Amino acid sequence: MKHIPPLPTYPESLWIQALEVLPSFSKLQHNIEADVVVVGGGISGITTAYMLTQAGFKVVLLEAGKLLHGTTGHTTAKLTAQHHLIYDELIKQDGKEKAALYYKANQDARKLMESLIEKHAIDCGLQAQDAYVFTNSDEYVQKLQNEISAYETLGITGAYLDQIPLDVPAKAAVRMNGQAQFHPLQYMTALVKVIGESGCQLYEQSTAVDIQEGPHPKVVTADGYSVTCKHVVICSHFPFYDGLGLFFARMHAERSYVLGIKTDMTYPGGMYISAEEPSRSIRSAASSDGTPLLIIGGQNHKTGQGICTINHYEALQGYASQYFNATDIKYRWSAQDLVTGDKLPYIGRITASSPNIYIATGFKKWGMTSSTAAATLISDLIQEKSNEYEELFAPSRSLSLKVVKNLVVDNLDVAKHLIGGKLEMVRRNPEDLAPDEGAAVTVHGKRAGAYRDKEGKLYIVDTTCTHMGCEVEWNDGERTWDCPCHGSRFSITGEVMEGPAEKPLKPVSIE
Ligand code: FES
Repeated sequence: MKHIPPLPTYPESLWIQALEVLPSFSKLQHNIEADVVVVGGGISGITTAYMLTQAGFKVVLLEAGKLLHGTTGHTTAKLTAQHHLIYDELIKQDGKEKAALYYKANQDARKLMESLIEKHAIDCGLQAQDAYVFTNSDEYVQKLQNEISAYETLGITGAYLDQIPLDVPAKAAVRMNGQAQFHPLQYMTALVKVIGESGCQLYEQSTAVDIQEGPHPKVVTADGYSVTCKHVVICSHFPFYDGLGLFFARMHAERSYVLGIKTDMTYPGGMYISAEEPSRSIRSAASSDGTPLLIIGGQNHKTGQGICTINHYEALQGYASQYFNATDIKYRWSAQDLVTGDKLPYIGRITASSPNIYIATGFKKWGMTSSTAAATLISDLIQEKSNEYEELFAPSRSLSLKVVKNLVVDNLDVAKHLIGGKLEMVRRNPEDLAPDEGAAVTVHGKRAGAYRDKEGKLYIVDTTCTHMGCEVEWNDGERTWDCPCHGSRFSITGEVMEGPAEKPLKPVSIE
């Protein structure tokens, strides 16, 4: 029988683990002033800070936790304008001109990143790779044919193929030529160094909780300190400040899973993603000691919904063993992505009435190039330069009837979970939990969430999400509490790990 290597006990991203030195910064502990406050220390925030410091602005960057430990540290790091099957859909949804602009925005972003890597001599494993969407489903063969027609219409260099270099079942594929892959945190830590040397002030463990709007907006942190500025850029993944933009009703959150495996097979090159579900994403990488690895990802689903999350890792484990002869699974990690109604990110002024507050969010799974496009667009807006992508990505853009219908379905799904969670019968008690087990339990006749750690200590929280009151669910793959409504996530002690929730889950006592 074939040996299937075990999954690592705890999630750990290859990118974060493989960095010898992660930069660290102190908390904001006094009131300060700046030209621009950037909130969020991932690729969008740091790249925006880079653009603006290079343009001579005094920039302060606030990160709620540790720099680069959010979605940027958990990506598959493909630098590509091939965002699954999007171009045929975009032509039908928004027309040829906007579809062409979307492609150009992401190609420009990739080229800009490559030029920054060259300019600052960043050693981040940048490699040119072709990108493939493949299918083994008859239903999707037609969709791939439509996609290659869209490539031809838009002048995208690529090809339609009836086989791919990988030895996985595939009836057809669409290739986009000349894309790239890299190590995202080696790239980002180099940019952090550059912005620090250019005068950007960076603060970690400094959670922005509010903006007092006005010509000189004030960003207020959870500790009560503030930064007064002229412009605020919100790059906190889910925007920490809504500004009446109602983003929680205009995006949904998805989770997906990744393994970093060793294999004795020879990899033919290329970056791959399956067209159909369950999704499969494949690329090569290397561990910190240079050992070749493959990154196998997929199994996306709405946050807080579906099967036990560890089952998603197990599905990838089976796939990695069956098709890539995995000899060891070195890493497992997961990521959260935000998906907008029309699948285009929201980049620009948060609303027409708040012209000096900007957001960058809703990148789906394609945040490497989209975030860099966002940084360029927002830094142009702040410098009052025209940018050809302003209208395409404007958060206040109008949506087609079809997109509005999709958002209505999403919001009905939220209502279903809101009501369903309240009616659910929970029969387990905290005493029933084994070490390292979490579950919804009943405490004093009410639903609560309990986790027992390996030493036997119990952590019990109120499972009512502090955003809008849905019931959070246990995520056994990551040991977190996840909300099925808008994707907020909480630690075992109830601390907020992902918004839109701002407040922690309440602790519950069994006394
Ligand atoms: Fe909105 Fe939980 S994230 S109710």
